[in-house]
Amino acid sequence: MTTFIVLAITFFSLITNSVHSSSIVADFHALIALKQGFESSNVAISTWKIDSSEPTSVCSWSGIKCFQDRVVSLNLSNMALYGTVSPDISRLDKLIELSIDGNNFTGEIKIENMSSLRFVNISNNLFGGSMDWNYSSLESLEVLDAYNNNFSAFLPLGILSLKNLKHLELGGNYFYGRIPAAYGNLFALEYLSLAGNDLHGKIPKELGNLTNLKEIYLGYYNVFEGGIPKEFGKLANLVHMDLSTCELDGEIPPELGNLKSLDTLFLHINRLSGSIPRELGNLTSLILRADTGLRRRLSST
Ligand SMILES: *[C@@H]1O[C@H](CO)[C@@H](O)[C@H](O)[C@H]1NC(C)=O
Ligand SMILES: *[C@@H]1O[C@H](CO)[C@@H](O)[C@H](O)[C@H]1NC(C)=O
Ligand SMILES: *[C@@H]1O[C@H](CO)[C@@H](O)[C@H](O)[C@H]1NC(C)=O
Ligand SMILES: *[C@@H]1O[C@H](CO)[C@@H](O)[C@H](O)[C@H]1NC(C)=O
Ligand SMILES: *[C@@H]1O[C@H](CO)[C@@H](O)[C@H](O)[C@H]1NC(C)=O
Ligand SMILES: *[C@@H]1O[C@H](CO)[C@@H](O)[C@H](O)[C@H]1NC(C)=O
Ligand SMILES: *[C@@H]1O[C@H](CO)[C@@H](O)[C@H](O)[C@H]1NC(C)=O
Ligand SMILES: *[C@@H]1O[C@H](CO)[C@@H](O)[C@H](O)[C@H]1NC(C)=O
Repeated sequence: MTTFIVLAITFFSLITNSVHSSSIVADFHALIALKQGFESSNVAISTWKIDSSEPTSVCSWSGIKCFQDRVVSLNLSNMALYGTVSPDISRLDKLIELSIDGNNFTGEIKIENMSSLRFVNISNNLFGGSMDWNYSSLESLEVLDAYNNNFSAFLPLGILSLKNLKHLELGGNYFYGRIPAAYGNLFALEYLSLAGNDLHGKIPKELGNLTNLKEIYLGYYNVFEGGIPKEFGKLANLVHMDLSTCELDGEIPPELGNLKSLDTLFLHINRLSGSIPRELGNLTSLILRADTGLRRRLSST
C-alpha cells in the first residue's frame, strides 16, 4: 500500500513536472489551451490535434515552427480566427516570433515571461484592455506591433524596460493621456507610431533624444497642444515624419532643416503659422505636405 502511494505520488509529480516545466510537452499543453479559446472555420487549425498521443507532433501543426524540439515561432496571421487568446500563450517560453495579426480576436491579451521573444505582431484585431504587461520579463523584444486594436488606457510605461525595442507601433487604438516624456529614453527605437489615438498634451521634447529614429508618426485623432518641438532637429536619421491632423500650432522649427535624410514631412491639417523655414529648402529629396496657406508662402519666397 505504501509502495503504491509512493509510486502514485512519483507518477503524479512526473506528469505535473512535464506539464509545468520547460519542454515540448509544456508547449503542447499551451497550444491546446490556446486552441480552446479560438473560434474558426479555417481548416488549417484542424491540424492542431488535441488528442495527439505524440506531443512532438506539434512541430508539424500549421503555423508552428520548432527548433531543437521546442516551439520557436507561432504564425497565425490572417487566418480568420476569432475568440480569445489564452494567457497560457506565455507558457511557450522558447518562443521567438509571434504573429497573430489580421484576425478578429477580442478580449485582453497578456504576453509575459518569454525571455526569448523578439517579434510580436498582434495588429489588426479587436484586443482590448491596457497592454499593461510585465515587460521586464520580455527582455529580448525588438518589435511590438499592436496597430489597429481596441486598447484603451494610458500608454504603457512598462515598455521603458525594453532596451532592445526598435519598432513600436501602438497606432489606431484608443490610448489616451499624454505621451510620457520618458518615451524619450527608448534609445534603440527606429520606428515609433502613436498615430490615431486619443492622446493630448504637448509632444514631449525628449522624443528628440531618439536619435536612431528613422520614422515617426504621431498625428490623426490625437489633439496636441503647442507645436513641433525644435528638439526634433536632433533626429538626424529621420526619413519619414508624419505629424498631420493633430492641431499643432506655432511655427515650423528651422531646426528641421538639419534632418538631412528626411524625404517625407507631412504637417497638413494643423494650425501652424508663419512661413516654411528656408532651411527646409536644403533638403533636396523632401516631399512636404503642409497647409495650403503655407504652401502658397513657400512658392512666393
Ligand atoms: C506568416 O505567414 C504568412 C503566410 O504564410 C506569411 O505571409 C508571413 O510572412 C509570415 N509572417 C512572418 C512574420 O513570418
Ligand atoms: C472580422 O469581423 C468583421 C465583422 O464581422 C468581418 O467583416 C471581417 O471580415 C472579419 N475579419 C477577419 C479577418 O476575419
Ligand atoms: C504586422 O502585420 C500587418 C498585417 O496584419 C503588417 O501590415 C505589418 O507590417 C506587420 N508588422 C510588422 C512589424 O511586421
Ligand atoms: C508570469 O510568471 C509569474 C511568476 O511565475 C506568474 O505569476 C504570472 O502569472 C506569469 N504570467 C503569465 C501571463 O503567465
Ligand atoms: C516581472 O518579471 C520579472 C522578470 O521575470 C520578475 O523579476 C518580476 O518579479 C516580475 N514582476 C511582477 C510584478 O510580476
Ligand atoms: C472595445 O472596448 C470598449 C471598452 O473600451 C468596449 O466597450 C467594446 O465592446 C470593445 N469592442 C470590441 C469589439 O471588443
Ligand atoms: C533628453 O532631452 C531633454 C530635453 O530635450 C534633455 O534635457 C535631456 O538631458 C535629454 N536626456 C538624455 C538622456 O539625453
Ligand atoms: C544650405 O546649405 C548650404 C551648404 O551646406 C549652407 O551654406 C546654407 O547655409 C544652408 N542654408 C540654410 C538656409 O540652412
